[in-house]
Amino acid sequence: MRLSWLASIPAWAKRVQQRRHWTLLTVFEGILRILFKCAVKLLSPKKLRQLQYASFRARLVLKEVLRMNNALIIYFSRTGNTEKVALAIRKGLERGGLKVTIKRVEEAIEEDLYDYDLVCLGSPVLHSLPPPPVLKFIRKNDRRYRDAREVYVPSPKMVNKNALVFCTYSGPHCGIHEALPAGKYIRQFFEHLGFDVKGEWYEVGEFHGWEQGSTKGMLGDIRGRPNVEDLALVELKAIQLA
Ligand SMILES: Cc1cc2nc3c(=O)[nH]c(=O)nc-3n(C[C@H](O)[C@H](O)[C@H](O)COP(=O)(O)O)c2cc1C
Repeated sequence: MRLSWLASIPAWAKRVQQRRHWTLLTVFEGILRILFKCAVKLLSPKKLRQLQYASFRARLVLKEVLRMNNALIIYFSRTGNTEKVALAIRKGLERGGLKVTIKRVEEAIEEDLYDYDLVCLGSPVLHSLPPPPVLKFIRKNDRRYRDAREVYVPSPKMVNKNALVFCTYSGPHCGIHEALPAGKYIRQFFEHLGFDVKGEWYEVGEFHGWEQGSTKGMLGDIRGRPNVEDLALVELKAIQLA
């Protein structure tokens, strides 16, 4: 008898653990469906409505119990702007009660993104796109999860697998339109993996090393940005997200 399938048990066990929220909700909904099928025959319409309302409340409570608790922030930064935003997000998420791990993109290549309830990926915009280290990270993970048959057609949203995209940009020529391709590219990566993308945050950052780009561009004088106010706002948004 072939026993090679035994070797895949640890990987399966890990997947079940990572998707415990999904498993619990699916079991819960299965039980409810059976309950309703019996109840339709036994209960009056009024009692049936009460039961529906109670189950709706129970689902909300369960979702609250299973809320996000750990987050991973991955970022790349050449001149420090994106790093400042990443640190502000960390502060906000921690203040919101999450356990946060933060890593530069080069150190995060081995991370299993499904180990976290919230994954934030931050990047500067270089020539309207994410820079090569971020592209490499995305391509490598995309390949890895496709090879592991984790990418489905179409990609269903998983319970409690959330993502946040954040980009810093200077927009010297055409403002935020220079940043959108980078943000959207990162977004679709998460959506392929079934993550629910909670936001795309575009933060203005000084164009270090090009004074004209930082003072005479589409967004005016952006020297010193992201500044204290920008970062306070980011922190606030991160608290709300948590
Ligand atoms: C080589 C280079 C190319 C850039 N290209 C763009 C661009 O196409 N659009 C834009 O809005 N900003 C561009 N920027 C500005 C950066 O996106 C911006 O300064 C960003 O905040 C830098 O983030 P960092 O400090 O984390 O590296 C460019 C910067 C550099 C150095």
